Amino acid sequence: MTTNENKFQEIISHAKEYGFVFPSSEIYDGLSAVYDYGPYGSELKKNIRDYWWRWMTQMNENIVGIDAAIFMHPTTWKASGHVDNFSDPMIDNKDSNKRYRVDHIIEGLADTLRSEGKETEADKLLAEMDALLAAEDFAGLKDLIYTRNIKCSVSNTCNWTDVRQFNLMFSTEIGSVAEEADKIYLRPETAQGIFVNFLNVQKTARMKIPFGIAQTGKAFRNEIVARQFIFRMREFEQMEMQFFIRPGTQKEWYEYWKEARLQWHLSLGVKPEKYRYHDHVKLAHYADAALDIEYEFPFGFKEVEGIHSRTDFDLKNHQLYSGKKMQYFDNEINQNYIPYVIETSIGLDRMFLLILSESYAEEKWTKEDGTADSRVVMRIPAKIAPLKLAILPLTKKDGLPDIAKELMNQCKPFFRCFYEEKDTIGKRYRRMDAIGTPYCVTIDHQTKEDQTVTIRYRDSMQQERIPMSQVRELVQANML
Ligand code: GAP
Repeated sequence: MTTNENKFQEIISHAKEYGFVFPSSEIYDGLSAVYDYGPYGSELKKNIRDYWWRWMTQMNENIVGIDAAIFMHPTTWKASGHVDNFSDPMIDNKDSNKRYRVDHIIEGLADTLRSEGKETEADKLLAEMDALLAAEDFAGLKDLIYTRNIKCSVSNTCNWTDVRQFNLMFSTEIGSVAEEADKIYLRPETAQGIFVNFLNVQKTARMKIPFGIAQTGKAFRNEIVARQFIFRMREFEQMEMQFFIRPGTQKEWYEYWKEARLQWHLSLGVKPEKYRYHDHVKLAHYADAALDIEYEFPFGFKEVEGIHSRTDFDLKNHQLYSGKKMQYFDNEINQNYIPYVIETSIGLDRMFLLILSESYAEEKWTKEDGTADSRVVMRIPAKIAPLKLAILPLTKKDGLPDIAKELMNQCKPFFRCFYEEKDTIGKRYRRMDAIGTPYCVTIDHQTKEDQTVTIRYRDSMQQERIPMSQVRELVQANML
C-alpha cells in the first residue's frame, strides 16, 4: 500500500472508531455503498450543511431555500432527461440470456484474483475497468471481458452481447394495491424539485431575476463504481442551488459562481493548492458548459462540486411535458422568457470526506524530558467541528464538578459542549483531539480562588489561563 492508501484506510478506521461513520446495517455485514453517520459524524454533517445553507440563503439576499419531496411525479424524470440519459453499462450472455452489470462481472474476477492472493493483478484490472467506464468506452469494456475470459455463471460461456446502457435511477411503486401501483423514482438529484417549483417560489417570495433557489436533501443512484467509502454512495445528500438568469448572461454568471464557490471552500481554511478546476469535455445532457471543483483526496484529485450552465433545458422541458408555462416576465426589459440557469451542486458526504481527509493528522514529537509522544488530531475548522468545547474538572472532588457544570450551563445553549470527569487530563485531551474539539477548558483548584480556567487550544496544544467569564465569548468568536 502507498502512504496515501494507508492514510485513507486510517481515516476510514478512525471515522468508525470515533463515531463519525459506520457501515450501514453492519450487523448484517453492511450494505454496499451505503453508510450511517454516528454521533460526531451527524454533528459534523449537520454543521457542514448549515454552513452551506447560511452562506447561500443568509449571505446572498437573492437566494431563498426550499425543501421539496424525494418522490416526484414520474413525468419529472422523463422531462429532465434522466429516464433516457442517466445510465451505466450492462451486458447480456447470449446462451443464458442473463443480464449483468459490466462492473459486477469484472469485480467478480477481481475478487477471485484476490482470493488467489493476486492482489496487484486485481487492482490493475479494476483500474483498467474504472478508466474504461470513465471514458464510456463500451467496446473496450467488452474487449476486457473477452480478453480476461470472463464467463457467465449460469451458462459458463464467454458469449456476450455488446455493452449497453443501464439506468442509474432506483424505482419503487406508489399506490396501495399492486394493480393500481405506479412506478416512481427515488430522485437522483435534488435539482428537479427546484425546477418544478420555480414559479411557486418566484411568485411567493417575490423574487426578481437574477435569483437563486437552494435546497439540501437525499439523492439516490444505483452507482456501479462504489468502492471509495463515502465518496460514491448509493444514497447520499446533495446541496444544490439553481440560479435563474436572463438568457445570454450565462457566461458571466458561470464565471461568477465558479469563483464564488471556490471561495466558499477556501473560507473553511483548506489550502488553495488542494483544489483545482476541471472543465468537462463531455457535457451532461442538460449543460452547455460545466466544470468540477476537484480536491486532492488521499486517492487523487476528484470532484467535490459541479458548476453547470444548464441553459433553459429543464424549465423548457417541464413546460413542454406539463403544458404549464414556465416563463418569467422581466419588467426591466418588458419581455417574457424562460430563464437560463447556472447550477452549483455539491455532495454533502463528499464534502464531509474532504473535511476528514484535510483534518486528519498523526503527530509525533519529543517532550522536554526527551521521551516520545504522539497524537491523532482532527484539525476540523472550529466553525464546523462536532463539539466546540470540552469542560473538564481536574478532579471529581472539592466542588470542581459543580463549577464545571455551571460553565456547561452557561455555554450549552449557544454551542455543543462536552463534559467529562473520567481519566487523566492528558487522556481526556487526546480523546478531544481525536474528534476535533477545538477548545478544552480545565477547572482546577485555582478556579475556586480567582475564577480563572486553563484553556487548551487543539491545534497548537498551547494552554493559557483566562477568566471563566470569557470562555463563551472566545469560543463563539471563532464559530463564524
Ligand atoms: N444536479 C446536478 C448533479 O447532480 P452531479 O455532478 O451528478 O450533478 C453533483 O452531482 C455532486 O453530487 C457531485 O459533485 C458529488 O459531490 C455529489 N455526488 C454525485 N454522485 C454521488 C454519489 N454517488 N455519492 C456521493 N456524492 C455524489
